[in-house]
Amino acid sequence: MPNTPYRLHYNENPLGPSPLVMDRIRAHLAGLSLYPPRDDDALRNRLAAFYGRSVTPDHLFTTYSGSEALDLIARVFLAPGDEVIVCGPTFHVYERTAAWQGAKVVDVPLDGEDFSVRTDAVLEAVTARTRLVYLGNPNNPTGSIVNREDMDRLHEGLPSSVTLVSDEVYHQFVTHPDYPDSPADAVAGRNVIVLHSFSKVYGLAGLRVGVVISRPDIVERLAGLRRTFHLGSLEMEAAAAAIDDQDHVAQSVALAEQGKKTLYAAFDRLGVACWLSEGNFVLFRTPVPADELTARMADRGILVGSGNRFGLTHSIRVSVGLPEANEAFISALECILIDNRQPVTSDGR
Ligand SMILES: Cc1ncc(COP(=O)(O)O)c(C=O)c1O
Repeated sequence: MPNTPYRLHYNENPLGPSPLVMDRIRAHLAGLSLYPPRDDDALRNRLAAFYGRSVTPDHLFTTYSGSEALDLIARVFLAPGDEVIVCGPTFHVYERTAAWQGAKVVDVPLDGEDFSVRTDAVLEAVTARTRLVYLGNPNNPTGSIVNREDMDRLHEGLPSSVTLVSDEVYHQFVTHPDYPDSPADAVAGRNVIVLHSFSKVYGLAGLRVGVVISRPDIVERLAGLRRTFHLGSLEMEAAAAAIDDQDHVAQSVALAEQGKKTLYAAFDRLGVACWLSEGNFVLFRTPVPADELTARMADRGILVGSGNRFGLTHSIRVSVGLPEANEAFISALECILIDNRQPVTSDGR
């Protein structure tokens, strides 16, 4: 894959998949003419052993990506006229998949300062029609988390008719000590659906594998939408191999941690406000409109995520890349900001 344009717009793993995954995929290519197992039992057994904490295969449902899991959750839980709560700015797929089922989407915006979830406001927004509350944890694009205390408040305050969807596809990057243990909550019988994905730290976005962790009765409802051949053989082989290489995960997390430090220092030097992130991306404010800055970055071969799609007209989300990509991003930002500060001369330039 070419290094440029630098892909800092989709929160991918710049290291790519683990070498172990690549070996396992290569070894599996000769078997591509064979049907895969109809079920995902082997992968769920592997996942259960990996998660530990009393997670059993009955707590797990695998999907064709985290995005598909969100679609299946909406299809199982929602009917026209139902309501869901989202806390914006957040991942647009919550709203989109709920709206596809005819549900009304109620936005309870995150706190404007630090993007924390306003738990009281969420609980007040619940009606008899509310079925799901979506939490990005860490949230995309803000990188903020829902801490243990707020998660507990939500669980305690929500009626049993409302299920929490805790989207934790970036959980491996979190270092905050108050991050909740949602898989343990699910095992303890709380009304929560936890979402994991192989697209982020595992670097397998192109293969599309997601995992839901929840109470066995909820998993059973989702399993009603199981496919005849549930996942492809390459997907299952690659996911199992990815779990086997936790060194690669640690390396990827360390790269993101180091990259965030570089970005924070650069933002500080350039006088650009940003939010500390628990993901592999950082949201920052820009004096130039987000779409314009995104386009000017693209002209320089650097792809970043305009905040406009999240309703943020002057913020940009940049993924952490390899050091070279981070440096290219920083120099481009600096040039654009300097250009922007040039006074307009009397002849209109
Ligand atoms: C918060 C969040 N949830 C879920 C996803 C979906 O990931 P995938 O469909 O690749 O598993 C993404 C992808 O960007 C995301 O940012």
